[in-house]
Formats: sequence, C-alpha cells, structure tokens
Amino acid sequence: MLKGKYKNYTDLYIYIFKNSHPELKNLEDEDFIGVWEEDGVGVLFFHKPKDDLIQELSKKYNLELELKDKVPYDKWNENRFPKPLEIGNLKIAPIWCEGKWDLVFDPSVVFGEGGHPTTVMMLELSWEFYKNFCKPDRVLDIGCGSGILTLFWAKLGSNLVSIDINPLCIKVTKHNLALNGLLNKAEVIEGNIKKLLPLKADLVLGNLYKGLLLDLFGLPSFWTSPYYLLSGFSVAMERELKEALKPRSAEIILRKEMNNWVCWLLKNKEIKGD
Ligand SMILES: C[S@@+](CC[C@H](N)C(=O)[O-])C[C@H]1O[C@@H](n2cnc3c(N)ncnc32)[C@H](O)[C@@H]1O
Repeated sequence: MLKGKYKNYTDLYIYIFKNSHPELKNLEDEDFIGVWEEDGVGVLFFHKPKDDLIQELSKKYNLELELKDKVPYDKWNENRFPKPLEIGNLKIAPIWCEGKWDLVFDPSVVFGEGGHPTTVMMLELSWEFYKNFCKPDRVLDIGCGSGILTLFWAKLGSNLVSIDINPLCIKVTKHNLALNGLLNKAEVIEGNIKKLLPLKADLVLGNLYKGLLLDLFGLPSFWTSPYYLLSGFSVAMERELKEALKPRSAEIILRKEMNNWVCWLLKNKEIKGD
C-alpha cells in the first residue's frame, strides 16, 4: 500500500521466497508495499531494491529466496495501469489521480485495479442490479482483492462482509474503506470462503476462478442467498459451469460478455429476495 513519502507506484521490486514466515506481515520499512502469502510461499513487494534487508530477513526467519524481479508498475497486472472509471453515477479513481471523485482507492499490487473485463462487468452489472432489481442491505464480496466492489456497494449504502484468502487483500480493502470514510460499512475477513460458509446475504459477489466456482456450486452452504453476481470465467468455461449449476435451484437471469470473459447474475429460486 502507499504510505509515507510514496504517493504512487513506479517500479515494483519483488522478492519471492520458497517459504514464508508470519512475521513478514508485520514488516515495518518505509519502502515496503506489502507481502503475499500463498500456499506457503512469501512474496515481498517494495518501491526500491532491498537486497540488504532481504538478506537480513532470510537469516532471521530462515527464508530461502527463489527469485527477485523488477517490474514497472504499468506492466503489473498484465499491463493494466489503474485509471479512473465511471460506473452508473459513481466516478472511481486511483488515489493519485487529481479530480473530483465519488470513490478513491489504492490498487496496491493485488487484483482489482479496475481494468480487467471481469471487474468492469461486475461493476456494471452491480449498477444494473441496483437500478433494476433491489437495493441489497447485506452484500457478501467473496475474493474482495483491492476491495473495489466492496467500495462500490458500500457507497451505494449496503453493508458488506468482504472475504479474501490473501492477507494483503484484507489490508488493502480496509485501507481503501478508510480512505473513503466507509470502514463502518464492511466487515473484512481473512480466510478461505469454503471454510467460512454459510454466510447469508441479499446479494453475493464472486469474481473468482472456474475451479473455485465449481467447488462452491457443489456446496449446499453456498446457496443460501437469493442473488449471485459471478465472473472470472471465459466463454469456453461456461458450459462446464452451466452443467454444475443444473442440480441447483439457480438460474441465469442476466449475462454479459467482454473480451471473451463472462459475467452472470443468478437468481436462486429457493430463496426469497426482492
Ligand atoms: C479475480 S480477484 C477479484 C478481485 C475483485 N473482487 C475484483 O472483482 O476485481 C479474486 C480474489 O479471490 C481471492 N481468492 C481466491 N481463492 C479464494 C478463497 N478460496 N477464498 C477467499 N478468497 C479467495 C484472491 O485472493 C483474489 O483476491
């Protein structure tokens, strides 16, 4: 995340370890952006080269460095440099952009910088849902990433439960809620959604990946809400997901496609919603 003298990102200095240590999360350094911990692997991000610090940390926590890299921020996230976007009546912009915005956010180095077609479709269908279906009181954001969908719904007045398995996403989402004075609108929880269900909401958001969606479709504890807005899968993956939906009481009521990515709005016929 941006802090201290850093007002934007230029180059990312990335150190990938074969292992990790819980204390990395608490690292205090003025050039530190954040740490990912996934499947036992730790990845540290800095604004500057930090070889000496990395050596020190490796010794202290018994870490094994596998790779180091420098990536210009505009090449990060498949070259999707974060830009302002306008969805419905809300203007959303990265924190470093000058102007008058309804929401600002620090995209950091997690998913959800706002340019991926799946995020764009999730936001656009969110607005369509808000306008034409209902104003959900409780929204569950599974895989909140930067918190961009959480911010959007919080600004529209909903209360959120926002979950991510990646601890950096939790930090970034909380930071972004705070930037907009919306911390009281969301409970942000670190964890694997499969272990946290059931979590009932008026609307469930899930910009995930096919494997996780298939797992969730198979869990009765997932199907406790009336509406589901889902993305993260391509046109080629749609048939398999539709098959997995068949035994369930959910039907696709809206479908959007962008650059070969798909977004669905599902209605769960067994649960009453507005
Ligand atoms: C494609 S990103 C979506 C980010 C943001 N919601 C958006 O729409 O731009 C998916 C997110 O799901 C999270 N995730 C993956 N598996 C998860 C799991 N089992 N439980 C909770 N979150 C998970 C990832 O860490 C990632 O931040």
